[in-house]
Amino acid sequence: MTDDESRDDADDTPQSEQPHSDLVTSHHYWEPPERPSDAIETDGSPKPEDKRRPLLQVERLAKYFPVRRGLFGRTAFVRAVDNVSYYVRHGETLGLVGESGCGKSTLGRTTLRLSEPTYGRIVFEGKDLTHYSERQLRPLRRKMQIVFQDPYSSLNPRMTVRQIVGEALHIHRLVTSKSEEEARVEQLLVKVGLRPESMARYPHEFSGGQRQRIGIARALAVEPKFIVCDEPISALDVSIQAQIVNLLLDLQEELNLSYLFISHDLKVVEYVSHRVAVMYLGKIVEVAPADALYEQRHHPYTRALMSAIPIPDPERRRLRILLEGDVPSPLDPPSGCAFHPRCPRSQPGQCDVETPPLKELTPGSHHRVACWNPHT
Ligand SMILES: Nc1ncnc2c1ncn2[C@@H]1O[C@H](COP(=O)(O)OP(=O)(O)OP(=O)(O)O)[C@@H](O)[C@H]1O
Ligand code: SF4
Ligand SMILES: [Mg+2]
Repeated sequence: MTDDESRDDADDTPQSEQPHSDLVTSHHYWEPPERPSDAIETDGSPKPEDKRRPLLQVERLAKYFPVRRGLFGRTAFVRAVDNVSYYVRHGETLGLVGESGCGKSTLGRTTLRLSEPTYGRIVFEGKDLTHYSERQLRPLRRKMQIVFQDPYSSLNPRMTVRQIVGEALHIHRLVTSKSEEEARVEQLLVKVGLRPESMARYPHEFSGGQRQRIGIARALAVEPKFIVCDEPISALDVSIQAQIVNLLLDLQEELNLSYLFISHDLKVVEYVSHRVAVMYLGKIVEVAPADALYEQRHHPYTRALMSAIPIPDPERRRLRILLEGDVPSPLDPPSGCAFHPRCPRSQPGQCDVETPPLKELTPGSHHRVACWNPHT
């Protein structure tokens, strides 16, 4: 065990209560306007930060991947993300859950324009960046970062920690001299719980938890406002997961960061999120304040997904028991509500024909469900 490993072990474990839930109370919720263009500046000129407007608005976003079927087959499209709208407020965490392959990572990557959207609009700090060129995007790239599941494969093994974290500072011209760069890297390492001496070492010399800390330091170097955390703890030892989660929460509080937090671990999502969105086959089927969703699940899919929480078995095995059949292919999604072939509440003639809209069951509840026959 290395010195830094022992530091990992010394950190706190999560408490059972919902963290910082006072940050977002229902009457403070910002709702996207009916006609979103009302609130969006398209000229890109800097405006004073409007605290009531969300940091990020994503509207009717779609990402279809073209794939060729057979040797002479026609091009078909994998509808990885299909008509998804969501928003994230300043200092807020939106949790994102759903079975493997439902489009969570694609939604995160497309939101950051690491993958080009097929349709839809992305508005960040009031600027519509959907069609920005790479050059126009550069100053915004700084503010929108990603932390990956596998910290090892996302860190260049031939670079020292100093180079990995310093590179971002350099690219975005956030430092003017070598000594300033070194001081800043040192500061960042301390912030994520690593020793300054770690600077001279290479990624393979660290444990999984420490490598994730390096990944977080690299993301923080450019002073982001929004971070997509794509399964940031699922590759880590269970004993280390809580430390990384708590680190992300502490950093959020200190720096007022916003997160899109993607995870298979529904308990962790409940712990970190102010709101939670549930995805099924490329669409959000339910979204609500975390406490409301964990208390009352209206969508049959959310019910099945979340009834699995208390059982300590691996997620997917439990899901197979609760949900009949496999997840359909996003190449050929079922008609109407995509969940209808697996849904015990499906109403033939409606559910298999019409796609249910995502809407509030009770006006003002901020609890939205896409279902013709929800649990009430
Ligand atoms: N580059 C690509 N080309 C074609 N299909 C893709 C591509 N990337 C993703 N997909 C498909 O898009 C769908 C959504 O994938 P995605 O990785 O976003 O799911 P996910 O919810 O993140 O899954 P997991 O929980 O396993 O990480 C899947 O059917 C996947 O096979
Ligand atoms: S719309 Fe119908 S099929 Fe879809 S989840 Fe609701 S009840 Fe089930
Ligand atoms: Mg993924």
